[in-house]
Amino acid sequence: MDPALEDLFEAARAAQERAYSPYSHYPVGAAVRTASGEIFSGCNVENAAFPLGTCAEAGALAAMVHGGARTATEILVVTNGTTPGTPCGACRQRIREFAGPETLIHSTTVDGNMVTMTMQQLLPMSFGPEDLEPR
Ligand code: THU
Repeated sequence: MDPALEDLFEAARAAQERAYSPYSHYPVGAAVRTASGEIFSGCNVENAAFPLGTCAEAGALAAMVHGGARTATEILVVTNGTTPGTPCGACRQRIREFAGPETLIHSTTVDGNMVTMTMQQLLPMSFGPEDLEPR
């Protein structure tokens, strides 16, 4: 793994350890690096009422906003298994809110099987905050 990603990976791994995923048994951790270099992380939190579960990316972005940041420059998501789990459709839109077209999103397994995409690749022709301007 790129040494420049180790801090993001470690933060996502620590978050994944705290995932609450008793129904899917698919723990996910996510970590966001902000424009100022801070890292915020989150994990998936499932619910007995299944649709109420939240994704790791949603938790990490909520932590970022709560921490006072607004710009994600790089995101890493970690999952178990052999194939990296890329962000779900809803999370692509959640990330888009705080990302630019060149923001990098890394999806990796615990073992380091990684795929890297730009925001533009992950969600082409996206709708974002600029589309609401001017109001
Ligand atoms: N999950 C995430 O946390 N992020 C994603 O982008 C994909 C799916 C979670 C939701 C659920 O708790 C579990 O993985 C299985 O879908």
